[in-house]
Amino acid sequence: MTPGPDGTSGSSPRADLSAHGPAGVLRPGLRTYKPRRTRISERSARALDDQRHLLLPVTGEPLDLDREWGHDVPVVLEIGFGDGRATAQMAAADPHTGILAIDVHTPGVGALLALVGEMGLTNVRVMEADALGVLARMVPPESLAGLRTFFPDPWPKARHHKRRLVQPEVIEIVHSRLTPGGSWHLATDWGAYAEWAEVRFEADARWQGGVIDRPDWRPVTRYERRALRDGRVITDLLYRSTPTA
Ligand SMILES: C[S@@+](CC[C@H](N)C(=O)[O-])C[C@H]1O[C@@H](n2cnc3c(N)ncnc32)[C@H](O)[C@@H]1O
Repeated sequence: MTPGPDGTSGSSPRADLSAHGPAGVLRPGLRTYKPRRTRISERSARALDDQRHLLLPVTGEPLDLDREWGHDVPVVLEIGFGDGRATAQMAAADPHTGILAIDVHTPGVGALLALVGEMGLTNVRVMEADALGVLARMVPPESLAGLRTFFPDPWPKARHHKRRLVQPEVIEIVHSRLTPGGSWHLATDWGAYAEWAEVRFEADARWQGGVIDRPDWRPVTRYERRALRDGRVITDLLYRSTPTA
């Protein structure tokens, strides 16, 4: 995709699977991100064209994960990869895992595609979309080995808590999309968000886990570096789904 006439690009219309799924699956209008308009670099704009074969279309139809990655390849979804550096680094270190990376922010999508091209990664596919709509409408049940959400927008004000990604209805749908034993790895720099997540996972007996040390394989992300500079404490949480009784 090329930048708009003003050289900026915000969230593309393609990012909007406006109905999150069959009625009642997710709250209508649940929007977990802040729309941003950021100038897109030439490198990212070029990658959106050159690497478009790695950009999966937002069709609303079920994704064929076997076709993208091959049968029996574990696929991990990452929601909100930002500038994509950590995502590319993790994908390079673990070439036998398929990475489905979704973000709404066009410049970041271009940046990740550029890295994937430059590093010659074959295990990454990218979507420019609201990941909640994709989860509800395009990710088949029991298909994902894991979900990664590193530094989801914390929405610190009480009136915005309803926009947090970790919500009972999202936990529910993620559980249905993970293979039994699949995991959700979160990281946050917001102590109150970590507690919010712990309370919600602990309320659901189908999940087991809690706070972990940052594993060596998870690179420090761009957002995290800023948080650390500002003196905030990082919490990693890992929950494993157990089969529905
Ligand atoms: C605070 S940033 C963190 C980015 C990156 N993980 C990092 O640590 O540097 C949150 C990211 O999540 C994305 N995001 C939030 N909600 C999303 C959603 N529903 N679907 C896709 N991306 C989302 C935002 O666009 C943003 O890039």
